[in-house]
Amino acid sequence: MNIIDIINKKRKKQELTDEEIKYVIDNFLNGTIKDYQMSSLLMAILLNDMTNEEIYSLTKYMAASGEQLDLTSLGTNVVDKHSTGGVGDKTTLIIAPIVASCGVKVAKMSGRGLGHTGGTIDKLESIPGFTVNLTEKEFINEVNDIGLAITSQTENVALADKKIYALRDVTGTVESIPLIASSIMSKKIALGAKKLVLDVKVGSGALIKNIDDARRLSRLMIDIGKHSGIDVICILTNMSVPLGNNIGNALEVSEAIDILHNHKKGSLYELCVELSSYMVSLGLKISYEEAKEKVLNNIDNDEAYDKFLELVKTQHGNIDKLPQEKTKYEIKTMTEGYLVDIDAYKLGVLSMSLGAGRLTKEDKLDYSAGIIVNKNINDYVKKGDVIMTLYTKKKITNIDNTIFKISDKKNRNNKLIYEIIK
Ligand code: URA
Repeated sequence: MNIIDIINKKRKKQELTDEEIKYVIDNFLNGTIKDYQMSSLLMAILLNDMTNEEIYSLTKYMAASGEQLDLTSLGTNVVDKHSTGGVGDKTTLIIAPIVASCGVKVAKMSGRGLGHTGGTIDKLESIPGFTVNLTEKEFINEVNDIGLAITSQTENVALADKKIYALRDVTGTVESIPLIASSIMSKKIALGAKKLVLDVKVGSGALIKNIDDARRLSRLMIDIGKHSGIDVICILTNMSVPLGNNIGNALEVSEAIDILHNHKKGSLYELCVELSSYMVSLGLKISYEEAKEKVLNNIDNDEAYDKFLELVKTQHGNIDKLPQEKTKYEIKTMTEGYLVDIDAYKLGVLSMSLGAGRLTKEDKLDYSAGIIVNKNINDYVKKGDVIMTLYTKKKITNIDNTIFKISDKKNRNNKLIYEIIK
């Protein structure tokens, strides 16, 4: 077997065998297959696609290429959640305590942000004292004790995926649907998930820009799940506008509290209720309707908020000392009309430039930096109204004036949840 034959086979649209895919993963990890050879194969995959059998093999070998977590000691009532990434996506901070307060265990390993999207671990670290580096034993014990734990994903999960992703990032091959599906699912398999709700983001602020691609990705991840013994539900959601009003680490924690404690309504609340209901339904094996009733009750009676406080306390955080930036810049509108569009991607990039995100892995974050969007889609705005407030220690120069779109007619295509695929 050799890599040139394998590349040529894929170039000719022939199906690779399980042995050939194992050969690629093993030899790319040990350095025998070079980056330029792997890049060539990845481009052939992007152009010529993969069969389901190929995708199952790729996922299986990537999952087995690093550390693997065994969560069986936690029982069968454990549900994981994953989002394909977006701007202002603080759903994990809200959903994990809601679901745990309903009696479903949440053992969540999360990542850090890079580029225009944020990461749950950075958001939690903005809470002074909050520990994100639990050992496996501490992680499992905490889930057993309080029903949930959130920790930083270890560096050694699905090592082959990590090495391949780094290459995809610089060779224009990130957008291959089979590669995205196997990348996400390999990590979930390695982390021991057995029940999984996936928030598949679609739109300008997301990796997947159109609904057809989102459908194919969802069906593939469900198929991979079936093949590996994981129950998967996909929720396709709108990421052309940011989620909620706050972007930036401590600002997002404070919006999560607004939902859990002050029961602030809106698109973020709706999405969290939806995702939580599917997780509770999977975990407790009850209907979606019954699960939703529990979720709404536990938000209303503050049991979900109490669970959030318990999580923060157990992981040594002090929520009363959340950093707040004093310097703020109010950005005002120049026109009048309905706010019909907010460019999630551009806001993500702006938030990063204020200090809330990283351009490279080494960049240091300013936890108090970020943006509050002061208006919602379809609000009527008048000339001179504050549309967003920027919080930063940096000097503000010119702000892109194409972030917000104002029109004399409302946006009628402002759907939050496109569809559910099971
Ligand atoms: N998220 C992942 O983990 N992998 C991808 O390929 C894309 C998004």
